[in-house]
Amino acid sequence: MNFKIPRGTQDILPENSPKWQYIEQKAHDLCRRYNYKELRTPIFEQTELFTRGVGDTTDIVQKEMYTFEDRGGRSLTLRPEGTASAVRSYVENKMHGWADQPVKLYYIGPMFRYERPQSGRMRQFVQFGVEAMGSDDPAIDSEVIGLAMDLYKELGLKNLKLVINSLGDKESRNQHRNALINHFKPRISEFCGDCQDRLEKNPLRILDCKKDRDHELMKSAPSILDYLNDSSKEYFNKVQSYLSDMGIAYEVDATLVRGLDYYNNTAFEIMVDGEGFGAITTLCGGGRYNGLVEEIGGPSAPGIGFALSIERLLMALETQGVELPLNQGLDAYLVVMGDEAKKRAPKLLHEMRAKGLTVDGDYMNKKMKAQIKAADRQNAAYALILGEEELANNSIMVKELETGDQELVSLDELSGYLYSRQS
Ligand code: HAM
Repeated sequence: MNFKIPRGTQDILPENSPKWQYIEQKAHDLCRRYNYKELRTPIFEQTELFTRGVGDTTDIVQKEMYTFEDRGGRSLTLRPEGTASAVRSYVENKMHGWADQPVKLYYIGPMFRYERPQSGRMRQFVQFGVEAMGSDDPAIDSEVIGLAMDLYKELGLKNLKLVINSLGDKESRNQHRNALINHFKPRISEFCGDCQDRLEKNPLRILDCKKDRDHELMKSAPSILDYLNDSSKEYFNKVQSYLSDMGIAYEVDATLVRGLDYYNNTAFEIMVDGEGFGAITTLCGGGRYNGLVEEIGGPSAPGIGFALSIERLLMALETQGVELPLNQGLDAYLVVMGDEAKKRAPKLLHEMRAKGLTVDGDYMNKKMKAQIKAADRQNAAYALILGEEELANNSIMVKELETGDQELVSLDELSGYLYSRQS
């Protein structure tokens, strides 16, 4: 039997994993600078957490969850996103009582959605996300957006487009909701079953329908921005003015509604402009979720966050031809000739590694020429050639592979010598 990888998943092979490590490290560093702390939650949670948290009228809950019963008859779901889990942990660990507020968290880990796989849309993908809970200061909205933009910029991505919208507070949303129902109701039979279902439950979701997106009522639908009350308007204005102060360009798009139910006030997406990226241009999405903590059984605490997938980020980097500064080479490769030298190799390699050098050697009994070739292939800066003669003099031939220059060095001074040659 031939085993195949499940549809919509991928192996990250050794030639690509350094890119992942580089990006993940960048995310860790950036969060450190912004003072966000890492939260690690389980890969599966009670199903109910997502039906309540993400919302039972969303595509994620209706069509995309990997849900299973465990042997104890509990319904569990592989997490489709990270916000609900972060909020669950915030409530369960009583983070609202911590001295330092807001609580600023981030996560990097796999998420699972049963979607139709295509480039940039996987069934298992890795999200980097941040969540700031406990503050409804618009300055934190601009901080969260700034962090996401910084990651892309520092990695060298260009043609980014930040799109923001306000979904308003509860009062504004209710007004808008009624306007949407009045707008769609008379002709709802012309819409798909999902939209009909959502009319009363969550009419905002109709605006996000892919099947009916060209229906004329979509374009004339009432805009949320016309229904914002004064405090929502003021909030949105402040977020915008902070972004401008920070030199972050943005566009306001009143049709941006996002695919999850928990949002209010600020919603945003970061896209990449330009050709060659296929159908999917959204790299990152996020927004404010002031009612979610309560919905999940906690106190009334506001929150805002975003998530982005590393898969889409890598696609964008590749499309734009951005080379990450990866250092995959070796400091040195040990080439041995003869039994005595081979016998000495493990100790020598072990000593050099203990001193922090990145080194490798031959385990296939290759001839000298083939060992030098391997050193070249592995991008070693030096080949360290050890034969009977060198051993007898307690020394080793250090050959710089780029120039071909070589020098005899005492074995006792080898690591120090290699360090001194590093620029
Ligand atoms: P989301 O818009 O569902 O939001 O996903 C955020 C990002 O995850 C997307 O912009 C995209 O980069 C990536 N993504 C989503 N689905 C896939 C997929 N099937 N394959 C590859 N990448 C994908 C959320 O998940 C919210 N939890 C974001 C958030 C955090 N809002 C507040 N805090």
